[in-house]
Amino acid sequence: MTDTITVIPGDGIGQEVVPVAVSVLDEVGEFAFEEYDAGDAVQAETGEALPAETRRAVEGSDATLFGAAGETAADVILPLRAAVESFVNVRPARAYPGVDALRPETDIVFLRENTEGVYAGHENRLSDDLSTLTRVVTDSASRRLAEFACDYVADGGGEFTVAHKANVMRETDGRFREAVLDVAEERGVPTDEVLMDAFATQVCLSPSAFDIVVCPNLAGDVLSDLAAGLVGGLGLLPSANIGEERALFEPVHGTAPDIAGEGVANPVATVSSAAMCCEFLGHDEGAERVRQAVLEVLADGPRTPDLGGEATTEDVERALLDRL
Ligand code: NAI
Ligand code: MG
Repeated sequence: MTDTITVIPGDGIGQEVVPVAVSVLDEVGEFAFEEYDAGDAVQAETGEALPAETRRAVEGSDATLFGAAGETAADVILPLRAAVESFVNVRPARAYPGVDALRPETDIVFLRENTEGVYAGHENRLSDDLSTLTRVVTDSASRRLAEFACDYVADGGGEFTVAHKANVMRETDGRFREAVLDVAEERGVPTDEVLMDAFATQVCLSPSAFDIVVCPNLAGDVLSDLAAGLVGGLGLLPSANIGEERALFEPVHGTAPDIAGEGVANPVATVSSAAMCCEFLGHDEGAERVRQAVLEVLADGPRTPDLGGEATTEDVERALLDRL
């Protein structure tokens, strides 16, 4: 059966790296691709960063592959995560053989809460001097994330770490911490916990102390970018926004305006996101083939300038397709 994948390249290097992921997917499976607009460019043209037809397409398809949006990112990606009813953002951060990494022993998967926290959008300007933000934490979302984390580690018989700041945000992170630890206990999954600021130091000094890290929304955003720095940069990190029925796959990086249009963006983050998409759609073998091709190309080159190489995006695409 042919799976349909909604494709939204977006702005900046999204336009350069998403087509690489599409041609890689085309090589390993039977997929139909339907392309839609979102982001700064379509906003400038139509006044809408996320056209209704794009949102409808995402709501109507099992899987979406997204590049990045520029200044309109919050107007695009937050509603798109909502459109797939995503309750977790899965962000693996691993170092690759052959890639110069600050911490080559890093191999961590962040499971980030994806609907609430300080990204719930409740900000107010109360006076010329004062703005406020309301942080949202529910038992239901925290427990749903924890259930996913328990399923995620079950395969490897593993455990996970909860990163939070419940010593200060006693009510909100207190609720998050308690809900996650409760579910883990019910499920018999071993856990440990760490304060997120201490985690930021510990992960730099000894990344191999961490395997699966469950965290609130903002913490997951920031800490996974930090981990990107340990493994060789944002050009490598994929992500999956998983919902009950649908999912959206995207690199962790943005539109990279400093290199957009030069044809040198690293497509690995988006290609690895496509591998996660393959797996979500049940094409485990295709996913494995893509991962293997990425491993080999990163080890042997060609590599883009962010990894110290001189290759173009197209050189890396050709190498990936050759391996496949
Ligand atoms: P960024 O991720 O776009 O870039 C940060 C740095 O990493 C830049 O030096 C860039 O050249 C480099 N980089 C990122 N991806 C790369 C790749 N694939 N290959 C080589 N180098 C890469 O983050 P920045 O600069 O903070 O944001 C730029 C724009 O992107 C902003 O307008 C922001 O709103 C948007 N953004 C959108 C996101 C989304 O749509 N999900 C996520 C993050 C940022
Ligand atoms: Mg981010």
